[in-house]
Amino acid sequence: MLKNILVVGANSAIAKSVSRLYAEEHCRLYLLARNEEELALQKQDLLIRGASEVDYSVFDVNNFSLHDAIVDQVLDSLGSIDLAILCHGSLPDQALCAENFDAALKEFNTNALSVISLLTSLANHMSIQRCGCIAVITSVAGDRGRQSNYIYGAAKGMVSLYLQGLRGRLHPSGIHVVDIRPGFVDTPMTHTFKKGALWASPEQVAECIVNGIRKKKHTIYAPWFWRVIMMIVCSVPEVIFKRLKF
Ligand SMILES: NC(=O)c1ccc[n+]([C@@H]2O[C@H](COP(=O)([O-])OP(=O)(O)OC[C@H]3O[C@@H](n4cnc5c(N)ncnc54)[C@H](OP(=O)(O)O)[C@@H]3O)[C@@H](O)[C@H]2O)c1
Repeated sequence: MLKNILVVGANSAIAKSVSRLYAEEHCRLYLLARNEEELALQKQDLLIRGASEVDYSVFDVNNFSLHDAIVDQVLDSLGSIDLAILCHGSLPDQALCAENFDAALKEFNTNALSVISLLTSLANHMSIQRCGCIAVITSVAGDRGRQSNYIYGAAKGMVSLYLQGLRGRLHPSGIHVVDIRPGFVDTPMTHTFKKGALWASPEQVAECIVNGIRKKKHTIYAPWFWRVIMMIVCSVPEVIFKRLKF
């Protein structure tokens, strides 16, 4: 059973739902996010729901120079990490990023390089523990580059490939690595989007995540039907795919 859980990007709607499920299992949580007021409110909420202890630090994932120190700080507090789940992310302005590399770099930093930097530090520490789980929310967008969101897709795809290699590296150390690929989720990130039948709530996605981690899945499509959708999307020949405006 998981006991000590680190949640990065803890104020994300999906992360909050995941943390609530672990609070009900009486886990100890350490939350990292940018907004202190929201962190304090979330701490109270999680304690009421059953968390045995909740600590937090204000943290911007793009402060790369602080990554090693923050992981040390979390380990000082938790002692060991049974699960580190990385949930932060941002949805780029694709049109802007396609024309402006500085804008694209900012998005690659948030969605990919910050994750890789944090995982470098976490993997070094957790491989000494010789047990635990690392889980990262990527996206179905990383399965194939689409013209409407290839900056986001490329960043998420980079992390998915990184996780595949990391999984092999950490397997002998007893660390399990999970790649979580949600489809469309109704959260602040997508508040301007028109919703339809394929959309899920953060609570539904959180259930998929917690169940998938418990079952030691390698890749979690959330909800499950995105695995089928993405198999179809990935099987479309490039000669047709490059003409699709989505
Ligand atoms: N919603 C979807 O349809 C969907 C689909 C596939 C994958 N995902 C992924 O799911 C994860 C959770 O997103 P969500 O849908 O729950 O959206 P969300 O509620 O908007 O959460 C995104 C979170 O990322 C945090 N964040 C962004 N930049 C950060 C930075 N520099 N430092 C620290 N935190 C930062 C935001 O912090 P602030 O609260 O401080 O802004 C926010 O809490 C993300 O990785 C996202 O890419 C979402």
